[in-house]
Amino acid sequence: MFDGIGRRFEYLRLSLTDVCNFRCTYCLPDGYKKPCNRPAELSVGEVRRVVSAFARLGLWKVRLTGGEPTLRRDFDEVARSVAEIPGIRRVAMTTNGYRLAERAQAWRNAGISAINISVDSLDPARFAEITGHDRLREILKGIDAAQKANFDSIKLNAVLMRGVNDRELEAMVDFVSSRDLSLRFIEVMRTNDNAKFFAERHVAGQSVIDRLQALGWARLPRQPGAGPAVEFGHDQAKGRIGIIAPYSKDFCATCNRLRVSSLGKLHLCLFGDAGIDLRPLLQSDDDERDLIERICKLTSTKAPAHRLHQGNSGATPHLASIGG
Ligand code: 5AD
Ligand code: SF4
Repeated sequence: MFDGIGRRFEYLRLSLTDVCNFRCTYCLPDGYKKPCNRPAELSVGEVRRVVSAFARLGLWKVRLTGGEPTLRRDFDEVARSVAEIPGIRRVAMTTNGYRLAERAQAWRNAGISAINISVDSLDPARFAEITGHDRLREILKGIDAAQKANFDSIKLNAVLMRGVNDRELEAMVDFVSSRDLSLRFIEVMRTNDNAKFFAERHVAGQSVIDRLQALGWARLPRQPGAGPAVEFGHDQAKGRIGIIAPYSKDFCATCNRLRVSSLGKLHLCLFGDAGIDLRPLLQSDDDERDLIERICKLTSTKAPAHRLHQGNSGATPHLASIGG
């Protein structure tokens, strides 16, 4: 499936819940607050229908995200049912890692082959300040458990923030250099809720690139089908480092993803307008043709690029609402 400017979509990010138990300063600084009359999250059947429709359109990779997706009691069942859908070759997940130590093997057995874990600091006190939870040690145990469980890919996500954890860059690079893990540095993104935080804490991706190059990391050629991350490698390191810098030039040109929220809304862009409701077409297998047609039509209208540089971060209050 292609959009109006020839970008090919291969990858669906599916949020399973907007609930999160952490309070990351850039995302949900006051913690998750349940809105009144919030509709139920997509059921296992609705998830199966929406993912099957995207699979028929050629998308082959799904990332289960949130909020914190593993807060759903039926998380393993959802993962298993997505992994069984014909055409889905890779099921990935993003987690804050809080149950990873006990659950890593179960998630792997449910068919998840790639896992991204948020780790914004390797200093326990700073980790607690950023996330509101003094759980770094548990998360590090979780990473060990994930390595034992043999995921094909384990990535650590770190959002670099000026004056908070930006001095830790070298320590983080060291941590992944000696392990078979990859690291992703993510620029703080501006959303509707965090404008002030963004202004104070944003670190430009280019300064991260400069520091990596000073440590001997070199840019790797772009893989076909790769998304917007720019990747770096080092002769002496097993893992890779990626940089996700949405404020950099041409970031949107390689966009290969679409998003569906936990309420069944299709979001063409993380920083786009309100999502478009697919839920009425997720109630019966008989609606599959209409659903596919709707997705195709909407996708063809995807905007060529976000409007962040014009100070417009779209309708997204925080990334927990539609999946980071
Ligand atoms: N800016 C950058 N990254 C964010 N995330 C959530 N909110 C933001 C934001 N405003 C990312 C974090 C986390 C993932 C789930 O979403 O990297 O690891
Ligand atoms: Fe939760 Fe992820 Fe947002 Fe942190 S970034 S509050 S872990 S949804």
